[in-house]
Amino acid sequence: MKTVKEIARDMAYYSKGNLHDIDHFLRVWGYARDIADGECLSKRERYVLEVAAITHDIACPLCREKYGNTDGKNQEREGAVLVRAFLRDAGIPGELLERIVFLVGHHHSYDAVNGTDYQILLEADYIANALENHTPPSAVRQALKSVFRTKSGIEEAKTMLHLSSHS
Ligand SMILES: [Fe+2]
Repeated sequence: MKTVKEIARDMAYYSKGNLHDIDHFLRVWGYARDIADGECLSKRERYVLEVAAITHDIACPLCREKYGNTDGKNQEREGAVLVRAFLRDAGIPGELLERIVFLVGHHHSYDAVNGTDYQILLEADYIANALENHTPPSAVRQALKSVFRTKSGIEEAKTMLHLSSHS
């Protein structure tokens, strides 16, 4: 089975030098690891989470070209297909691969969370996007209540988005 690092390297190559795409997945992966360090994940869950964090936006280039945008639903549907092909030769056991495909196929669905791996992926991606989009502090504070669930995710968001820990 390929290591997470090997998959990250494959994903960087797949990103064809697109700085935004490479930077985004590296940061989402980093936030996901930071958050996961503070939560109780099995080795398998941790592997699934990290691979999903690295590959979650795999459909962005295709969606930009095909639809002219990276809207959530198209990206989820296209991403689930692309990630399965991308990981075909990674030697990942079926059960883990199915969970990775599921997470990539649901990473914009805030109402279907069914596990800590899923929750952490949403939180890590939220932090990366809020930084990129200069999301106002009031909206981030709202998200801390409506989107975030893990204690370490809330701490990570407050640190990265420079919110006072008392807010
Ligand atoms: Fe993302």
